[in-house]
Amino acid sequence: MCGIFGYVGPRTDGATIVLAGLKQLEYRGYDSWGVAVASPDKIVVKKKTGKIGEANVKDMPHSSFAFGHTRWATHGGVSEVNAHPHLDCTGTIAIIHNGILENYEVLKQKLLTKNHRFVSQTDTEVAVHLIEEYAKRMLFSKAVQQAFNDMEGLNAFIAMNRNNNQFVAVRSGSPLVVGFGNGENFLASDAAALLPYTRQVHFLEDDEMALVSAAGVMMFNARTGVRIKPQKQTLTWSVAEVEKGSYPFFMLKEIHEQPGVMADIAADNAEHAVKLAGIIRQSHGAYMVGCGTAAYACLAGSYLFSKIARRHVNWAIGSEFGYQLDFLTDKSLILALSQSGETMDLLDSVRKSKEKKAKIAALVNVLGSSLWRIADYTLVIGAGPEKGVASTKAFIGKLAHLTLLAYALDGRIREGQKVVTMAVKSAKTVLGEPTVSHIQKLAKKIKKARHVYVIGRGLSYPAALEIALKIKEISYIHAEGLAAGELKHGPLALVEKGTPCIALLPDDETYGANLAGAMEMKARGGYIIGISHKPHEVFDYYVPIADAREATIIPMVIAGQLLAYYLTIARGFDPDKPRNLAKSVTVK
Ligand code: G6P
Repeated sequence: MCGIFGYVGPRTDGATIVLAGLKQLEYRGYDSWGVAVASPDKIVVKKKTGKIGEANVKDMPHSSFAFGHTRWATHGGVSEVNAHPHLDCTGTIAIIHNGILENYEVLKQKLLTKNHRFVSQTDTEVAVHLIEEYAKRMLFSKAVQQAFNDMEGLNAFIAMNRNNNQFVAVRSGSPLVVGFGNGENFLASDAAALLPYTRQVHFLEDDEMALVSAAGVMMFNARTGVRIKPQKQTLTWSVAEVEKGSYPFFMLKEIHEQPGVMADIAADNAEHAVKLAGIIRQSHGAYMVGCGTAAYACLAGSYLFSKIARRHVNWAIGSEFGYQLDFLTDKSLILALSQSGETMDLLDSVRKSKEKKAKIAALVNVLGSSLWRIADYTLVIGAGPEKGVASTKAFIGKLAHLTLLAYALDGRIREGQKVVTMAVKSAKTVLGEPTVSHIQKLAKKIKKARHVYVIGRGLSYPAALEIALKIKEISYIHAEGLAAGELKHGPLALVEKGTPCIALLPDDETYGANLAGAMEMKARGGYIIGISHKPHEVFDYYVPIADAREATIIPMVIAGQLLAYYLTIARGFDPDKPRNLAKSVTVK
């Protein structure tokens, strides 16, 4: 969703620093961008629609007080005028905003009677005029606080006041991080963007307000006005982890990082897994919840817990769980899965579960994120920063953790580590040159397909869903993941001559029945792509995968990620930034 970056300090190239920060945040998804700098007599703003990649701010004045925003439109279409920052009537206050101001119409009507002039169709512009109105009769920081308290909905914003070189940042809902430098300070929506400058950060909690100037940072509770002490944390991610290195796209880099991510999880997480397994054991009813790719990890988890530990752990989609949690009690446990820890639909259902006194365990990649902070127990995925919009390594990391967890629940953690290590080995083979070029060839062969079907059973059913999701979100080919048993209940009607059908055939109890599904599709003219430990005559194209017991779906999904990636390249699209999608979905 929207990206936010702000700088105040001694450097005079504020606009350039902000633009570089925004480029780090590009992956969150956006449709337009804008930068504002304070110059001695006014605030100068530059806004554009489209990509920020080639943009420059050389035409902007030197300034040591600047901020900027990448916008993902909610209120008001994609246009320069609707892009942030927005200015007040005097041109001395600017604002950037992430969220939705739900009562903007009421506020706007009041402001119109006071002769405020509006130029955009956004809710954000209402906020800046509201601040302007209050600032006529109180201190700027008080005016921002007052305006924030008038706003309904989930809103994080930063206001810039040219008259005192101070940002006032406040949050409810969307993430905001303060970065502490030496004689300079920063604000960002994502801590990774701060890494080139500082590792000392404070993640703003809901209702916290930060007054950020070059001289220092002061924090308050925006509702009560009570002063708060910043809780500084040190970031552990490295700059190299947030750069593409020699890879053409982040997604490809992240796909190739997966064996390393899993190896680290297997080596370092036994103790954590045993501890969390104990918490699951004590609960009466455990539920896994996530959105998108994370939801498929939850579904895979439910099979792993059943198969390995004979334990029923339910699962639900984040946006749906809120409608079916009336049965929760103080003995229930919610295992919330999320890469970003900021997905609004997930946070909403987690908060509702908390109201029912359920305990929250989070499997989350971003330390300090909202989910990480509201959870009673946390397990960090440890995949490192993930920048491709389509989640890859965080998904594989979740599967590795869930495998360990299921084994830990059954008192066999060492065996769990062995199984994950088998998956590392098998994944390395998939990522080796022969298999990669084999998959590249397949992508060229099927790049013109209109539909792709992926079938699986048991554990390979969530893998089929995940592979289909990767294909549709980045290559824009319609892809459906199916439980193979459901084929004849409808989808088979869609299979025509040449339709690519991917069959996931691990060496487990599902093999025979799944193969029957592949044959049913073949009999209707389907082009069968078998992903399996052994070839079969029904396959028109065969991708070999070495067995890794219950973790075989890991290398299978990796083969699917590579296929989605190369399909996207073959079709001429950008795999890192799929149209209409955002990395972190912080609105409902
Ligand atoms: C977005 C991303 C997906 C991700 C989902 C959930 O839709 O594009 O890749 O799986 O959000 O995100 P989370 O950060 O909660 O795992």
